[in-house]
Amino acid sequence: MSAMATEVAEKTSEEGPGTGDKVANRFDLEKETELRFEVESGEPEEGKKPEEVVLELLTGMAEIFGSELNRNKKYRFGPGSKIAVFTWHGCSVVLEGKPEAAYRSGETPMRLYLNTHAALEQMRKQAERDNERGPRVMVVGPTDVGKSTLCRLLLNYAVRVGRRPTLVELDVGQSGVSVPGTVSALCIERPADAEEGFSVQAPLVYHFGSTTPGTNIKLYNKLTSCLADVFSQRCETNRKASVGGCIINTCGWVKGSGYQALVHCASAFEVDVVLVLDHERLYNELKRDLPHFVRVVLLPKSGGVMERSKECRRVSRDEKIREYFYGFRGSSFYPHIFDVRFSDVRIYKIGAPSIPDSCLPLGMSQDDTQLKLVPVTPGRDLTYHVLSVSCAEDGEEGARRGIVESPVCGFIVVTQVDTQAQVMKVLSPARRPLPRHTLLIMDIRFMT
Ligand SMILES: Nc1ncnc2c1ncn2[C@@H]1O[C@H](COP(=O)(O)OP(=O)(O)OP(=O)(O)O)[C@@H](O)[C@H]1O
Ligand SMILES: [Mg+2]
Repeated sequence: MSAMATEVAEKTSEEGPGTGDKVANRFDLEKETELRFEVESGEPEEGKKPEEVVLELLTGMAEIFGSELNRNKKYRFGPGSKIAVFTWHGCSVVLEGKPEAAYRSGETPMRLYLNTHAALEQMRKQAERDNERGPRVMVVGPTDVGKSTLCRLLLNYAVRVGRRPTLVELDVGQSGVSVPGTVSALCIERPADAEEGFSVQAPLVYHFGSTTPGTNIKLYNKLTSCLADVFSQRCETNRKASVGGCIINTCGWVKGSGYQALVHCASAFEVDVVLVLDHERLYNELKRDLPHFVRVVLLPKSGGVMERSKECRRVSRDEKIREYFYGFRGSSFYPHIFDVRFSDVRIYKIGAPSIPDSCLPLGMSQDDTQLKLVPVTPGRDLTYHVLSVSCAEDGEEGARRGIVESPVCGFIVVTQVDTQAQVMKVLSPARRPLPRHTLLIMDIRFMT
């Protein structure tokens, strides 16, 4: 794929005053080519600001994963960013700073992706005409094939032609919407910001509690069904949402129960289209197992998609939690720290450890144990855990009923536990008191 990619260190422009040791490179891109670059990840040296790469569009038109760039505006990308600046008609851009790698490529699957968008748009037009619903699309594939990027591209193109598609985020490891350990849905009303991604206002978020669906597949499937139900209800009352359809992002687990979860999702959302990225076997399996009216399409991955190590994924998960509390680049929100008395909250974990069938109480199945609420006695081991604040009604009865199926209204992190005084300190995006008192514990921890 990347055979045509050429390492470029084009015209190095004169360093302007005050640019320090920054290097500025200008790149002229021909039509239907892209400039790919990476910003080094890792901690900055003591007292130094993290490395950034600054991008500016000088002439022509260009986009980043479907978000159009403005001319003469500086776009900043922090450590770990992996970016492609694509142009349909040709452009020139300048990069300032020290990208880890920067090269142009003329071999991209963008035309195929654009055709996919065009086909989905046809389906929306037809839905409008026939008073039907728009396309529900599931994007699948193994890890690191560009699933999230393709979702972003298709959503951007749809919203740019006036649609209001919904992003359904089922990747509990690397959520584009909320903190890790959740699944969510977000109505897309404007294109993603080239630097920050989609504006996350009023998403619908459910607590899953860990970063791989495999830790509790029953719960994962249950939450997928919850999202599908809410989305369908919304489509009944909101014509634009119905015509816009949805783009479902999934995680890269495509074997065994992971595969079954994809089939479950396709049926819960009644998807019309499945886009399979770079995995022929998965494509054939889905064609075999999904109803015949579901269009299963195999698409190539972009040669630019970069593999991310375990460490890289861990860092980006942490970053996502930090962003929730402190805002983008850690500077826009000011979270609060306050005491919460054990007696004022009820903490649960969803799912009891599985036990052999023969040991289950009469009439109970493994399903019940995976969806069971297990009360958690607060102790020191709670420290650093992320807790979801459930929207479920407070009060014993209300709380127990429907907690699993209730969305969450926010997250807190336990920063300290005092078992003597029976209180814990929590980091919270809003000042006290907590809006609700039912908390769900995640496997995920965050050190502030
Ligand atoms: N054409 C491209 N050029 C350079 N980088 C790219 C390109 N397309 C995607 N990337 C980058 O590659 C990385 C992986 O892409 P993406 O997250 O879309 O893959 P994924 O299949 O969703 O991965 P995961 O399995 O982790 O969910 C991202 O950081 C993305 O910004
Ligand atoms: Mg992804």
